[in-house]
Amino acid sequence: MNLDELLLPDRVHRRLYTDPAIYDEEMRTLFRRAWIYVGHESEVRHVGDYKRAKIGSEPVILVRGEDEAVRVLVNRCLHRGALVCREEKGNGKFFRCPYHAWTYRNNGELMGVPKRSRYPRDFDLGRLGLVNVPRVESYRGLVFACFDDDIEPLIDYLGPVRNYVDATLDFSLSGEIDLSVGVSRHRYPGNWKLQMENGVDGYHTAFVHETYIGIMSRAEEVELKFGSHGEDQGWTETFPRGHAVLARRADPRAIDVLRGQFPEYTSALEAKHGSERLLEILAHMNVFVFPNLFLIGHQIRVVQPVSVAETEVMMYPYLLAGAPEALNLKRMAEHEGFYPPTGFGTPDDYEVFSAVTEGLQAMSTPWLLLNRGAHDYQDLGDGVRRGTPTDEIHQRAMYTEYARLMGSGSRGGEA
Ligand code: FES
Ligand SMILES: [Fe+2]
Repeated sequence: MNLDELLLPDRVHRRLYTDPAIYDEEMRTLFRRAWIYVGHESEVRHVGDYKRAKIGSEPVILVRGEDEAVRVLVNRCLHRGALVCREEKGNGKFFRCPYHAWTYRNNGELMGVPKRSRYPRDFDLGRLGLVNVPRVESYRGLVFACFDDDIEPLIDYLGPVRNYVDATLDFSLSGEIDLSVGVSRHRYPGNWKLQMENGVDGYHTAFVHETYIGIMSRAEEVELKFGSHGEDQGWTETFPRGHAVLARRADPRAIDVLRGQFPEYTSALEAKHGSERLLEILAHMNVFVFPNLFLIGHQIRVVQPVSVAETEVMMYPYLLAGAPEALNLKRMAEHEGFYPPTGFGTPDDYEVFSAVTEGLQAMSTPWLLLNRGAHDYQDLGDGVRRGTPTDEIHQRAMYTEYARLMGSGSRGGEA
């Protein structure tokens, strides 16, 4: 699809958020050419464990087979199209289609069909297994899948953003996390890319989340230096393939504060990583892996497109495997304060997404501007660029990768 006229280096056109034909093309092209996060290994720890996910609009099942291999199967019966798995997660040896009971092993093979004798002689069960998504790889327990056989290895696709993924997950002393606490799902009326842009947007924080910041400051629970209030303490970085981070340095006293509450755990973290790296681990980071995965605070967040103007957001708060229970409880309480539908933060973001969706009905004014900081950023080499927290350097990087995957060749610009 040629989107050259809709994607300029410093702006994007409203049709990217409103045109069903562009949405269909994203599902057909972008989501099939990128590594898409489908779940965490802790969700399919045991043989037979499965969970449902999506790759764009394509329903899939992440499952650990009898041979212990983790596969991603397309959740679509080869007979006449029903989902073969309707539970969100579970454990089982096979999937039985709810319609005519064709039954598949959990490696995708078709085991049997009822009343088989009425099929012609050349009916071959061996050719009617569930489609296996051809590429499945994981990084630090995060499982990604891709329909494009030729995509680069996941580790190269992630590239230098791995430093921030590692820093986020290394708050777990064992290096492992556990997603067994569940998921909080929400929907908002608007295009999925609004959440993609917003998850690392430091410009809106001081305004959209003003109430939250006010309450927390009065409660003196935390020293808040959000967004434009903390310009000197924060930064954004963009990476090849559209990944990005919005980060704020930890207060130098953060290690001592943590030590006051969890002395043994803190000393063990410090012994493992050194105090300099531990301060990086304690920084506030919103990490974005293109096109629809975030690691924010204490959660893994998946942005799931539903239609051109509807999006589902799944937030999976996670536990630090092996950490003191009190630390995990504290993290869950912090998560609950801001992120779920009852929290202080997320509903405000969804309110502005609806305001944008309605505003974009204005055909007289087609462009969304993404040029903050376009004149002034640091080039750190290897495709890594750095700007201030309120710049739009990350959104520009996202749309550069977006254009590449959508087959739109001529998008220029610095990031
Ligand atoms: S659609 Fe699955 S058995 Fe008929
Ligand atoms: Fe926000």
